[in-house]
Parts: sequence; C-alpha cells; structure tokens
Amino acid sequence: MKNLIQSILILIAVHVSTAGAEEVIYAQVGETVTIKPPWSVSLQKDYVYWLFNNVHSPPLAWSNPLGGKEIPKDGHWKDRLSLAADASLVIKNIQQENFGTFFFKQSLSDKIDSPTCKILKLNVSMNPHFPLLPGDFLSLTCSAETLQGHKKPEIHWLNPRGEKMSTIQPLTMKVTSQDNGQWTCVVTNDKKEKKAKIVVTIVDLSPAPLRPRYTSKSWPFTVPCSLPAHISWQQINATGIKEVHWHFVPKPDLSPQRLFSLSLKNPLTWEADQDRGLRPAPDLKRGNLSLTRNRGTEEDRGDYVCSLKFKNGVTLNRTVHVKVLQITYSPATELISGQQLNLNCSLGHPLPSDLRMKWFPPQQSSLTSDHHPAHLTIPEVGTRDSGKWRCELWQKDTRLTSAEIELKIEPRLSVSMLVVICSVTVIVLLLFILVIILYRRRQVRMRHLRHRLCQCKNPKPKGFYRT
Ligand SMILES: *[C@@H]1O[C@H](CO)[C@@H](O)[C@H](O)[C@H]1NC(C)=O
Repeated sequence: MKNLIQSILILIAVHVSTAGAEEVIYAQVGETVTIKPPWSVSLQKDYVYWLFNNVHSPPLAWSNPLGGKEIPKDGHWKDRLSLAADASLVIKNIQQENFGTFFFKQSLSDKIDSPTCKILKLNVSMNPHFPLLPGDFLSLTCSAETLQGHKKPEIHWLNPRGEKMSTIQPLTMKVTSQDNGQWTCVVTNDKKEKKAKIVVTIVDLSPAPLRPRYTSKSWPFTVPCSLPAHISWQQINATGIKEVHWHFVPKPDLSPQRLFSLSLKNPLTWEADQDRGLRPAPDLKRGNLSLTRNRGTEEDRGDYVCSLKFKNGVTLNRTVHVKVLQITYSPATELISGQQLNLNCSLGHPLPSDLRMKWFPPQQSSLTSDHHPAHLTIPEVGTRDSGKWRCELWQKDTRLTSAEIELKIEPRLSVSMLVVICSVTVIVLLLFILVIILYRRRQVRMRHLRHRLCQCKNPKPKGFYRT
C-alpha cells in the first residue's frame, strides 16, 4: 500500500513537471509533425486523449486499452491524423488550420491545463520565385511565429555550401551561379534547431574546362559547353532567352567568326553559319551544346565561345581554348637510309611546365621509346625507322592528345650491291653481244648455202652459149 501511494505520487510529480515544460515545434506547411506524449504510455494499456486548442473541448483523437479509438475522418483533419503505437499524434501534410496548441491527457478529468505542445508556423519564401540569372537580386525570407511572452527564436540562413549567412531578415543579395541549390533556414529556439529548406535555381552554363582542349590530326576534337544537369530548356525559356551562339576566334586580335546559331523554335536546332566541319552534339535537348569532329586539324587552334543572350541584357559565356599538337619534319617523310632527319612535336608555343611530351618510334626502330625531347634529330635514318612515329602529350597520368607521322625510308645502294649490279649488267651485255655474233654468223652461213643451192637447182645449159 505504501509502495502504491509512493508510485502514484511519483507519477503525479512526473506528470506535473513534464506537463509544465510545454514543447514548441516549428513546422512548415506540408510537413509531417509528430507530437509525443509527455510521458511514456502505450496504446495497448492506457487511455489516451489528445485535445486541440481548448483543454476543455471534446478530444480531437482518443484511444482506450479495449481497442476503442476515434480519429477525425473529415473537416480540417481528414486523412491527416493518426496515432502511433507509443500514442504519439502524427499530423501528415500539416495545413494552416492544423497549427495550434495540443493537450495530452490520460483521463478527461485530469487537472492538466498547460498545453503539451504548440505547433508554430515556420515559413520560408523567396522573391522572385522563377529561375534567376547570375547578377539578379534575390530575397529570402524565413519567418517563425513567436509565442507570446517568449523570446524570439534566432534565425539564420545557410547557403548551398553550408556557410552561415547574416541573420538579418530578409536576406537580400545579388546571386552568382554558386548560389544555385538548396538554402537552409535554421531556427534556434530553446537550444533546439529546426531547419527549413528552399531550392534556388540560378540559370548558368557548366564551368568552362580549366585546361585548354588538346587535339591533333589523329585525335578526336570536341569543344565542350553544356547546361548543368539541373537546368532544363524550359527553365532557360522561362528566364527569357534571346540568342544562343558559337563563335570562333582564331587569334586574339582577329574578329570572331560565327559558327552556329541555335533556332529556339521547337524543335531546337543548330543553324550553321560556318561549320568548319564541326557537328553539334546529338544530345542538345538535354542541354549539351558541344561541338565535335572525328579528328582535329591544324586550323582548329584558337578560342571557341559559347554564349547565351537573355532579353534582360545578361549574356552568359564560356570560352574554350583549343591547342593543336603538331609534328613538323625536315627534310621529308620519304627518305633514303643514311639521311639525317629532324622531327619536332609541338603545340606551337613552349610547353607549360606541368605537361610532358613522349615520342613513340615504330617498334622495330633503332630508337627506343624512352624519354625524348620534343625535338628529335636522327643523324642517319635506317629502313627500320620506317613506319608510324607517335608523339603524345601527357599531364601527370592523363594522355591529353597524340599526333602521328608516317615515315618511308628506302634502302641506300651499298658497294657490294653496286658490284652485283655492275656484274649483272656486264653479263647481260656480253650475252647480248654473243647473241648478235651468233646471229650474224648464222646469216652469213645461210646466204652461202642459198648461193650453192641456186647453182644446183637452175643449172645453166652449158652448151647453150656455145651453140
Ligand atoms: C556532349 O556531347 C559530346 C559529344 O557528343 C560528348 O563528348 C560530351 O561528353 C557531352 N557532354 C555532356 C555533358 O553530356
């Protein structure tokens, strides 16, 4: 009996103390909110009553250990409320009408009158709401309701990189493409943090490659430019796009040549002004604006500019620097063994210190593919040097491009070969002379024979003249 009284007293004490510490929950419209009973109860064993806004009102939801249960099926609470196994009240997709004060009781005659929990509204918004361009102004608002007589909660924003921004409300700024992504408003109340997120979309092109693009006559050629994956053409259209172009600047002091213009009518198509043999990437619909060709040429060297012009005057640009690896030679690529050959592999300017050149002679060549300078001098080429010579451009472990040249080396006439050729010539000559002599002798013999035959066949009547 003593024990029972003791435990009842403890229970009451716990109820009173926990009931006094009313909980504040911040929620955004549409969120799911779970309100826990102030002490541990179980739906199987206990009576449970949840009341809304008025401690003396009929319960909003209740349940008893016999399995009886009532949860509103219509009105503001339709399809929103449920009771979890631990008697928590779960509010799904919370709406304006569902914010307020909640009371928990285990008996309707309980003398509890301080609320168990208050759900306060947290609201984040941005202005303007449509996708922005770098340089546009954006204002982010995070407002949290405050309980009367309570201290205002502390509010600050985290940018998409997780950096804390000023606590001044609203947060107004000029955006850059780095501001694209999820912004978080952090509300701190009673050492409890509540975060609310909002997605800011900044229309921009993907960053240009940090390095130049390298190509050669034996290497594919692609000039990259694309919209980031999170930006669609619909968003670009919503921003008021005016023109999309590709330009080529062969040398810094020359005026740009227009290569392609995008027709923004549906379906999107590139129209070539001067295609230079380049083809637009096939996945234009997915925001790939790249140009490509199977092989580079020496004339591809220069700057390629991909630009998006918007109706408000903003232009987004990406410039791709293109360098061509080229092999030059002297005197020729068709040589006779023994001649000197100079091969030079270059980008047309001194090599940056972090790049390396590597030569790969043909397999059977006398030169092995050790490290070679960009400039190769072979004092005497041999027939073994015939074939494909390759020069590769490397940065650390990445092959940036490679160029090839084909050499044809004919053998030189040696002394022994000369002797053989001379002897063959002499023999042929002698044979010729012999044939002529034999022929002549045969002719002479034939004539002689004919002469004798002639005398026999038509014998002159000897006595004719005499008579
Ligand atoms: C764009 O297309 C080019 C050429 O087809 C391809 O190499 C590149 O990977 C594509 N880029 C993206 C971002 O899909």
